[in-house]
Amino acid sequence: MQLIRTQFLLFLLFFFYFIGFSSSTVADDEVSVLLSIKSGLVDPLNSLKGWRWPDKAAAPAAGNHPVHCNWTGVVCNSEGYVEKLDLSHMNLSGRVFDEIQRLKSLTSLNLCCNGFGSSLPKSVANLTTLQSLDVSQNFFIGSFPSGLGRAGGLVYLNASSNDFTGFVPDDIGNATLLETLDLRGSFFQGTIPRSFRNLQRLKFLGLSGNNLTGLIPPELGQLSSLETVILGYNEFEGGIPPEFGNLTSLKYLDLSVGNLGNEIPPELGRLKNLETVFLYKNDFEGRIPPDIGKMSSLQLLDLSDNMLSGEIPAEIAELKNLQLLNLMCNQLSGSVPSQLGSLPKLAVLELWNNSFSGPLPSDVGKNSPLQWLDISSNSFTGEIPSTLCDKGNLTKLILFNNAFSGPIPVGLSTCSSLVRVRMQNNLISGTIPVGFGRLGKLQRLELANNSLTGQIPDDISSSTSLSFIDLSRNNLHSSLPSTILSIPSLQTFIVSNNNLEGHIPAQFQDCPSLTVLDLSSNHFSGRIPASIASCEKLVNLNLRNNKFTGEIPKPIAMMPTLAILDLSNNSLSGGIPESFGISPALETLNVSYNRLEGPVPANGVLRTINPNDLVGNAGLCGGVLPPCSQNAEFTSRRRSLHTKHIIAGWVIGISSVLALGIAIFGTRSLYKRWYSSGSCFGESYQMGSGEWPWRLMAFQRLYFTSADILACVKESNVVGVGATGTVYKAEISRSNTVVAVKKLWRSEIDIETGNSNDLVGEVNLLGRLRHRNILGYTLKIDEKVDIYSYGVVLLELLTGKRPLDSEFGESVNVVEWIRRRIRDNKSLEEALDPNVGNCKHVQEEMLLVLRIALLCTAKLPKDRPSMRDVITMLGEAKPRRKSSSSSNNEGNAANKDEPIFSTSPVNGLL
Ligand SMILES: *[C@@H]1O[C@H](CO)[C@@H](O)[C@H](O)[C@H]1NC(C)=O
Ligand SMILES: *[C@@H]1O[C@H](CO)[C@@H](O)[C@H](O)[C@H]1NC(C)=O
Ligand SMILES: *[C@@H]1O[C@H](CO)[C@@H](O)[C@H](O)[C@H]1NC(C)=O
Ligand SMILES: *[C@@H]1O[C@H](CO)[C@@H](O)[C@H](O)[C@H]1NC(C)=O
Ligand SMILES: *[C@@H]1O[C@H](CO)[C@@H](O)[C@H](O)[C@H]1NC(C)=O
Ligand SMILES: *[C@@H]1O[C@H](CO)[C@@H](O)[C@H](O)[C@H]1NC(C)=O
Ligand SMILES: *[C@@H]1O[C@H](CO)[C@@H](O)[C@H](O)[C@H]1NC(C)=O
Ligand SMILES: *[C@@H]1O[C@H](CO)[C@@H](O)[C@H](O)[C@H]1NC(C)=O
Repeated sequence: MQLIRTQFLLFLLFFFYFIGFSSSTVADDEVSVLLSIKSGLVDPLNSLKGWRWPDKAAAPAAGNHPVHCNWTGVVCNSEGYVEKLDLSHMNLSGRVFDEIQRLKSLTSLNLCCNGFGSSLPKSVANLTTLQSLDVSQNFFIGSFPSGLGRAGGLVYLNASSNDFTGFVPDDIGNATLLETLDLRGSFFQGTIPRSFRNLQRLKFLGLSGNNLTGLIPPELGQLSSLETVILGYNEFEGGIPPEFGNLTSLKYLDLSVGNLGNEIPPELGRLKNLETVFLYKNDFEGRIPPDIGKMSSLQLLDLSDNMLSGEIPAEIAELKNLQLLNLMCNQLSGSVPSQLGSLPKLAVLELWNNSFSGPLPSDVGKNSPLQWLDISSNSFTGEIPSTLCDKGNLTKLILFNNAFSGPIPVGLSTCSSLVRVRMQNNLISGTIPVGFGRLGKLQRLELANNSLTGQIPDDISSSTSLSFIDLSRNNLHSSLPSTILSIPSLQTFIVSNNNLEGHIPAQFQDCPSLTVLDLSSNHFSGRIPASIASCEKLVNLNLRNNKFTGEIPKPIAMMPTLAILDLSNNSLSGGIPESFGISPALETLNVSYNRLEGPVPANGVLRTINPNDLVGNAGLCGGVLPPCSQNAEFTSRRRSLHTKHIIAGWVIGISSVLALGIAIFGTRSLYKRWYSSGSCFGESYQMGSGEWPWRLMAFQRLYFTSADILACVKESNVVGVGATGTVYKAEISRSNTVVAVKKLWRSEIDIETGNSNDLVGEVNLLGRLRHRNILGYTLKIDEKVDIYSYGVVLLELLTGKRPLDSEFGESVNVVEWIRRRIRDNKSLEEALDPNVGNCKHVQEEMLLVLRIALLCTAKLPKDRPSMRDVITMLGEAKPRRKSSSSSNNEGNAANKDEPIFSTSPVNGLL
């Protein structure tokens, strides 16, 4: 307010100054207009400092070249009138004064990329000489001024990325010379004006990322000059008008993310110039029209996330320019047309999550620079084609959840471009070919749940890039290669459920990254090497169901991040080291079915240990088990405690039956915790020693909130330990209620065994950001992905940090980096990737997702949400919708080689 008043005073000053000066020329009049415009602006960079009235001495010299023609951003015509005003990229804010309409010769006004948060004055519509108006990338509010249609010469109108509301002015349809109309990324509502049918010269129509409704007017089909149509991220109804088949100049059609339905009109096949078709994430149904094969220029076709059914029409193989074919997440079936393998430019083929069957064409990749092949979660059979990497471009090979049989093609183990190989859950047999260890970019090797035999090839130990190895549930024999756990980048190593034998290689001097080591259900023997404790990052160590002997090495108890330790079903002897109670991170310890003996320490985590995790050791006693001498006394103590508790008030949530019934509440409260307010987030972090909130369930009546409950869940409130969890007493003073709260030991939804079909979805936010070309990734939950890694990927996306970024400092990953920021009370906003832009809405949205990511990366698996929850939460993480702009952004090229994520194919290729 103060500012505006000052500006007004300034303006008055100028005004009187001019009167005093008694200028007579029209040019002088324009000087005063410019100065009054300046007086309305807040100019933090002082870009307009040269805009001042000249010294009296200099003024007469102006002659036929008026002095203001030399001012920053001002271009005059030959008569000395202001013709162009370019105030873009100056960080300007404030207001645009009505005086601007007095620039009678103005043909071009550019206010793009500033910080204007005011409304755009109606007087702008009086600039009927305008040919080009650019107010994009600001925060303009209110309605877009109507009347511009009178600017008969208007060719370019760009108002994208603003906060405009209200309707799109009808009269724009009167600006019949218009070639570019870009209104993406505001909050426009209502329908597309029918008057647009007059825009016969229109080449670019961008309305995406608004709140537009109604049908897409068939009249748009008459705009025969249209080359680019971007309408997605709106609330349109109906389908694509068949009249679009008349848009013969069309090159780019993007209707992605909307509510569009019906069948895809075969008329589109008439569009011979069409290069890009994005219709993903709508409700299109029926078959893919075979006419699509006639779009001879087509390069990118993305029909994913719809309800399309039937087979892929063989005609698609006629699209010789096709680089990308994305049909994932539909209801497509049948086999893949064999001619698809002969498409010479095909680089990305994603068919995952459909019902395809039969073999893949045996020559896929033979003739084309195939980069990504993701056909997971279908019913493919037959052998994996040996040609996939013939051109040496394959980076991502994802075949899991199918019924592929036969061997792993040898060619893959020499395919040096490979980054991810994910073939789990098939019927693949034979041995693991030698060579994967020498592929310098390979990060993930997942071959779990197949019928592989033989040994783990030695060369894998020499890898410098592998971070995730899962060979579990096969028939692998022999011992582990001796240095395999020293792969410098190795984070996860899972070989459970094989027939491996021998000792654990004692090479733990350097296991700099190892966080998960699962050797369970094999025939490993010998002692557990104490040196394993030098794996400083290890979080989960599972040696269950082997033949280990000897004592539990004491140093294990002091491992700094070890949270889960499962040593059950071995032949370990000796006692449980006292120090386990004070182990810095240990949360879950299972030593059942060994030959352990002696007293169970009664400190720390052992105080609340589930007795089931101790059973099968005849010699153990004390602690949570019956006392070493008098068993009877213990039982009665527990019973009295229990009774007392019931008397104390409501006993809720002990029965697991109830737990099932009301599990939904848990999920709901989980969202609430993370969405209600930012402070909730901070609070939960301070709980305990950086402890994470856990899932609440089994409440019968709700006199209280989840926050009330969580506040009471601390060690001093422990009242007992049952078979499935620890029970805490919670007094809710507000409602005078005392409840028992049970913290379950294991989450009832086992992420690892979840049905992958339930886990399919697309992360909406990232999809939207992709549309805005900001992040440039789509992350799909295509896979039985482990929720923790998923959270890590999200964090990496949001912060723009890569796992090996030097910024983290040695030995700190992105999760730890973020946690430290929170602990040190540093701003999370600053942790976000600056390349995403500093728009408030985007940041808001990113912060919400960041929180979800933090949930996913909770220390304990049982505290992490299920993938289904994550999908729902992500769906909700959109405080305001705003997506828009820039269909081609060079910046994304940099992300082209991002290996870990499913980079948006679109950006990879644009
Ligand atoms: C423009 O202004 C600068 C000083 O700001 C002056 O040096 C230059 O001669 C001017 N040019 C014209 C064409 O008036
Ligand atoms: C422009 O403004 C933004 C936010 O107000 C600020 O972050 C940025 O540094 C400014 N640009 C310059 C060049 O000062
Ligand atoms: C636009 O120009 C007309 C005629 O010159 C004038 O009456 C009207 O007030 C102007 N509109 C605005 C918003 O200044
Ligand atoms: C478009 O122009 C015509 C004729 O100049 C006029 O009658 C009509 O009202 C204008 N349409 C709008 C929506 O302003
Ligand atoms: C979008 O429009 C719908 C229906 O017209 C309305 O319910 C919703 O609130 C609007 N959203 C925004 C962000 O304006
Ligand atoms: C436009 O398309 C419609 C329906 O596809 C058709 O009936 C009509 O004749 C076409 N118009 C022109 C001018 O091609
Ligand atoms: C495929 O790989 C070859 C050789 O590595 C390279 O020259 C070519 O550019 C790649 N093609 C694509 C589309 O990436
Ligand atoms: C409109 O402006 C935005 C931002 O300034 C720009 O990225 C976009 O390319 C422009 N649209 C067109 C069609 O030129």
